[in-house]
Amino acid sequence: MEIVSTMADYKRAYEQSVAHPEDFWSEIASDFVWKRKWDKVLEWDFKNAEVKWFIGGKMNITENCIDRHLAERADQTAVIWEPGDPGQKARMITYQQLHDEVCKVSNVLKSHGVRKGDRVCIYMPMVPELAYAVLACARIGAVHSVVFAGFSAGSLADRINDAGCKMVLTADGAFRGDKKVDLKKIVDEAVDKCPSVEKVLMLERIASKPSMKAGRDFDWQEEMNKADANCKAEEMDAEDLLFILYTSGSTGKPKGMVHTCGGYMVHVGYTFRTVFQYQPGQIFWCTADIGWVTGHSYILYGPLSAGATTVIFEGIPSWPDQGRFWQAIERHKVNTFYTAPTAIRSLQQSSVEFVEKYDLSSLKILGSVGEPINEEAWQWYNKNIGKEKCPIVDTWWQTETGGIMISPIANVTKLKPAFASFPLPGVQPAVMDEKGNEISGNGIEGRLAIKFPWPSIARTIYGNHQRFKEIYFSTFSGMYFTGDGCKRDDEGYYRITGRVDDIIIVSGHNLGTAEIENAIDEHKAVCETAVVGFPHDIKGQGVYAFVICYEKPKDEEKLRQEIRDTVSKIIGPIAKPDKIQFVSGLPKTRSGKIMRRILRKVAEGDTSNLGDTTTLLDPTIVDEITRGALG
Ligand code: WTA
Repeated sequence: MEIVSTMADYKRAYEQSVAHPEDFWSEIASDFVWKRKWDKVLEWDFKNAEVKWFIGGKMNITENCIDRHLAERADQTAVIWEPGDPGQKARMITYQQLHDEVCKVSNVLKSHGVRKGDRVCIYMPMVPELAYAVLACARIGAVHSVVFAGFSAGSLADRINDAGCKMVLTADGAFRGDKKVDLKKIVDEAVDKCPSVEKVLMLERIASKPSMKAGRDFDWQEEMNKADANCKAEEMDAEDLLFILYTSGSTGKPKGMVHTCGGYMVHVGYTFRTVFQYQPGQIFWCTADIGWVTGHSYILYGPLSAGATTVIFEGIPSWPDQGRFWQAIERHKVNTFYTAPTAIRSLQQSSVEFVEKYDLSSLKILGSVGEPINEEAWQWYNKNIGKEKCPIVDTWWQTETGGIMISPIANVTKLKPAFASFPLPGVQPAVMDEKGNEISGNGIEGRLAIKFPWPSIARTIYGNHQRFKEIYFSTFSGMYFTGDGCKRDDEGYYRITGRVDDIIIVSGHNLGTAEIENAIDEHKAVCETAVVGFPHDIKGQGVYAFVICYEKPKDEEKLRQEIRDTVSKIIGPIAKPDKIQFVSGLPKTRSGKIMRRILRKVAEGDTSNLGDTTTLLDPTIVDEITRGALG
């Protein structure tokens, strides 16, 4: 495939991708290994939320990510595993070893009855075995559903049940900083509520020796010792399911986004090589968790499809100290470092001495993803980490888009801090006004939609195509709606301004306000809740909850703590409210709809202009809420 390396290339590629999208993507797809070539590149109908790419094509993504590299790079490191504890030794896994381990896990899965099309839930810490597990599912055609190992038993059970998973792959526990989390205990609690689960495979990570249920639970190492290191890759149709990944929705129920094999592989492989201008031999580190889409696409599938060396980091940025990332960059001579604004903002708070201790001269390219990066964080990143020599690619995309959509191309696009800049070739954005008309020209602002399909667009919400259609394809007729707002400046640069729906992004994690409200309502003292986001220095957005109790709370602080614990137990610690204000009522319209606009203003600390409140059922409630606002 031709990789854009100048602005003139970009313009040419972009124009071709709009004029002849099928030829454009077909040429890129030809650089991958197919067992059978496709008959037709694309079929689509956005009105019915239907998209298919590379129809009739047969392939297996693991042959593209592993087998095809063996002739040339069997001994090259595929994965560098950096443990959370810097005192422990890193592990280097070559492409040959990756092949063997993935095949062994594949054989273990098969020996436990997992077949093509079966769903497998993966709930594991960031260890190499997590990568093997994901790739093993892909190899045998099982559909992986990775659930971030910070979710509670209840959230895990919901996701397992929604997908009807047959097997769960987990570990006894995980290290988080110097703390241990008992994952197996959480899995046991979840699986009790999951009738579809037949087997649980458990890796030992924290040596906690949890109890094992005979006939259901199996020890990872014992099973691996019996497994063969070869396993034929299943022939997959381009449109067969590769994975399900849950993301928060505006209603309480998470959405199981479905990605398929062929288009996802092509888009993720292409964008990895283009955006990061990957060169053979380079070391690439994306700090996301594999439990999120960024980890799927740019720790595993993207880099491995390009034959890169990818880093998997088990730890957290602040333990043992705020220098942990920089230490690991020095240790492994990382060339490209891809992280989230929330991590940058939190590290920016500490002394630059934590950065200056380390040699970061191997760095060539920096990236950012997950939420809008504010200019201050961008400048800090540029100055202290990139030493003003490394371009920062601010990549905009979503779980639903599968891969990067709008982003600078490293060393090609002239950068503007906090701008995701231009759409990649193959991506056709549109900025829409509230009435649903496309706004043309530059120097404008509106809602971001996409007019034409790209290969890694999610195909559906698992088990609920109607919901998929409603959420993404009914706001703007014939277009995919992203849920984000954006600006396009005078030079045509895009700046993503954030969500325009009821999703808030806390430390890069998408959370539905309804999901948190439902969790808070589970507390027996709580009658009704409204949750909104508010600007937070480190997390980007924080969670602000307005809570009505049945009785006036006697000890507000104690109740706040209990509510936080309830949310932590039901969803996971990431969703805990930062601020809880007890109120006697909520600003509701006569039709009973909560006017969140007002609550957002209160949460932002800006009550100077609350707009028209006359349509409220009880306008006096606004005064009470404003008076009690938490600073
Ligand atoms: C936000 C993560 C601004 C956006 C890959 C999007 C961003 C949501 C950026 C998807 C960026 C992601 N600039 N906002 N560079 N990247 N977002 O599904 O609101 O976890 O809709 O996918 O994150 O989050 P998700």
